[in-house]
Amino acid sequence: MPDTMVAAGGARSAKGRILVVDDEADIRESLSDLLGLEGYAVDVADSAAEGLQKLESAPYDLLLLDLMLPDRSGLELLREIRKRDQETPIFLITAYGSTRVAVEAMKAGANDFFEKPWNNEKLLVEIERMIAKRRLEHENIQLKRALKQRYSFPNIVGKSEQMVRVLDLVTQVAPTRSTVLITGETGTGKELIAKAIHAASPRADHMFVAVNSGSLPPELLESMLFGHVKGAYTGAVASRKGYFEIADKGTIFFDEIGTLTPETQVKLLRVIQEKEFMPLGSNEVIRVDVRILAATNADLKKLVEEGKFREDLYYRLNVINICLPPLRERKEDIPLLVEHFFDKYCRENEKFLGPDGRSLLRFDAEAMQILKEHSWPGNVRELENVVERAVVLASSPVVSVEVLPDHLLHASGLRIRRDESGRLPPDASLFEMVADYERNLILRYLEEAGWSQTEAAERLRVPLSTLNQKIKRLNIEVRRRSELARAERGA
Ligand SMILES: Nc1ncnc2c1ncn2[C@@H]1O[C@H](COP(=O)(O)OP(=O)(O)OP(=O)(O)O)[C@@H](O)[C@H]1O
Ligand SMILES: [Mg+2]
Repeated sequence: MPDTMVAAGGARSAKGRILVVDDEADIRESLSDLLGLEGYAVDVADSAAEGLQKLESAPYDLLLLDLMLPDRSGLELLREIRKRDQETPIFLITAYGSTRVAVEAMKAGANDFFEKPWNNEKLLVEIERMIAKRRLEHENIQLKRALKQRYSFPNIVGKSEQMVRVLDLVTQVAPTRSTVLITGETGTGKELIAKAIHAASPRADHMFVAVNSGSLPPELLESMLFGHVKGAYTGAVASRKGYFEIADKGTIFFDEIGTLTPETQVKLLRVIQEKEFMPLGSNEVIRVDVRILAATNADLKKLVEEGKFREDLYYRLNVINICLPPLRERKEDIPLLVEHFFDKYCRENEKFLGPDGRSLLRFDAEAMQILKEHSWPGNVRELENVVERAVVLASSPVVSVEVLPDHLLHASGLRIRRDESGRLPPDASLFEMVADYERNLILRYLEEAGWSQTEAAERLRVPLSTLNQKIKRLNIEVRRRSELARAERGA
């Protein structure tokens, strides 16, 4: 056989792991030899009990099962296995003439059977075919799952491990009723994730109500949340439904949950526990079915320790925590997000749109480098703003550093800020300082070389092209030698 050599070596389990369950030692041995030489990793068991135990402890690609075992009938073992595992293919080895039992076994979930003495070639072909088929099915399932996930959140971009994990979690929690606490720095996408949870939940056809807990005075917030009846307080000229009632059967999202006053915290806790509340000025109890999501960029745990946030409410909210990583910790997502926002804003501005409705814009290598190096304190929102600005300012499909906001250029040393007396500002970045130093050095060498770039490059021991690039990047005004000569003549 052509791959016997490989088989005996390292590529063993790549072909598949097979478990042989047979009480006859010479059958176990001959099957082991046959399969081992063919490149399979083979395990053996001499009883049903041992077979089951091995099955529990390791995954196999295929099972070869003798129908006559000492401790149990093979048929019984088969049924037992199929109760726990419907996936792993099972081939039966049956005694000559036991076709009736074999048919029974096929009904019980065996995939094929071979009568003793079996034909080696045929057995090998069928095993190989079955394992390949199963692997393909398995890959298809995985692929479909990945695709489904990818397309179930079309507006959430990210392929970093952290974001994939976040989306996994969203998929898992969406169908449940659990309260979810979404944490992360500003602009990391907390609201976006809250909306995605709602959209992927059975509540999607009902309301998603977002409440910004920090933006309203406490009394007004309570009236907005629970509603009020006419005359409940001065100015309450008509009764009004609260957010909880509006969000019935849907989702309510508390943004900036850390800013709730202690009084509102108590009331919220009550709604979460009792699923009912009373509108302001009313003594009628209203029952609602609302799923609660909350977000914060504050350290809620710390607020609990400081006594500013109720511990019981914290635990009620934090049943599941989805933590959004800052953009600087998942830089591989930056190019994808850039592409996503280019598409979005080119469509919005009807500018640089390709025939497929996608953006024709892209950043040049230097601009992209700066985007990747930036620390993104404002996270995805900051990046989104940078791309929107680029779309507005772009005059050709390849976008250069020219359209990046100044603070990005400062941070990367591409543009150096100076005060009136030409000094660096006190908050200069390392890049600005280095760039400033480099700029002065190059200026000095250029002056010493009488503005001959070739000579300056030689003295600085860099290729002329490198010096040229630096002169451009660092905004060094080059004096032409001819100008100098003219100036001297004029003097
Ligand atoms: N993974 C992502 N894919 C696409 N767009 C994103 C992603 N994350 C965030 N955004 C976009 O970035 C912007 C900010 O997101 P969002 O408002 O959800 O952030 P946030 O965490 O709630 O911010 P804040 O703490 O300031 O309220 C939104 O326009 C949102 O659509
Ligand atoms: Mg938000």
